Amino acid sequence: MTTSRILPFNDAAIEVAAELILRGECVAVPTETVYGLAADATDGAAVAGIYAAKGRPSFNPLIVHVPNCAAAERIAVFNDAARGLAARYWPGPLTMVLPLRVDSGIASLVTAGLPTVALRVPDHPAMQALLSATGKPLAAPSANKSGSISPTTAAHVHKSLGGLVPLIIDAGPTSRGLESTIVSVDDDIRLLRPGPIDLGLALQPAEHIEAPGQMTSHYAPSKPVRLNATSAEDDEVFIGFGAVAGRINLSADGDLVEAASRLFDALHQAEDAPQPRIAIAPIPHHGLGLAINDRIARASS
Ligand code: TXA
Ligand code: MG
Repeated sequence: MTTSRILPFNDAAIEVAAELILRGECVAVPTETVYGLAADATDGAAVAGIYAAKGRPSFNPLIVHVPNCAAAERIAVFNDAARGLAARYWPGPLTMVLPLRVDSGIASLVTAGLPTVALRVPDHPAMQALLSATGKPLAAPSANKSGSISPTTAAHVHKSLGGLVPLIIDAGPTSRGLESTIVSVDDDIRLLRPGPIDLGLALQPAEHIEAPGQMTSHYAPSKPVRLNATSAEDDEVFIGFGAVAGRINLSADGDLVEAASRLFDALHQAEDAPQPRIAIAPIPHHGLGLAINDRIARASS
């Protein structure tokens, strides 16, 4: 792809966008907070495409956008506190981190293998129209290159991701201009990211967070992990890549998008296997390989 189409938000544009999403592509679409880079949250390869376009050097769990509370309850388990917040603030710029349902259908790359999922019901006609036209939950981080500022106009998106995404839907500047408030809701409610909705909560103490977007709760297998393995011992489950086949191959073709989409499922499978250790084949250090290597380096430390 060398150019990105920019289409003004209308029914025809949403039809084009929905077609792309259902084909496994990413589309930049406005929400009331910032422009998001949306992909089908049930399609691991499509979600890997988000990371590839953003050039994100690690896999942070992504927010899943749904059209309403009923759709949200099909993905996560709601307690009374979560229902109360949903009734009061949805649709709107509040994201809730909740226990993931086992039958949610959400790709493991979206949650970075965690047993929880971040959900929100956006209050923007373009994102709502795309949710309705695709009938899919949509994973969407901000539509910018990793490490740059979140986009609040289609021009910002184009400056950052022009040529890397097939389509940008333009509905003018976003009304909130700031990413959603994120809370985790279980027995109590904890603020993970301040944002447009002020619940009067203090931000989580710093020791709970290693770095922005890198919660200590990040999924890591409980078994020792050996990296850059070209063969495995009898007591190791071997996760392969390309020609180094292993027992579970992340991608026989050496395709980094496919490998990223399978990574967390592979780690979970390896954890459930009888062998007490995990060995992982070398993964190239370019493109999505950077994020894959970041994640497995964390899994091994
Ligand atoms: O306003 C917004 O929230 C925008 C628009 C596009 O909706 N989206 C956005 O997504 O800011 P993103 O991917 O930049 O923010 C995701 C953040 C992660 O960095 C992480 O802090 C948190 O949400 N998160 C997601 N899933 C989580 C989980 N299971 N547990 C803890 N935190 C989670
Ligand atoms: Mg961002």
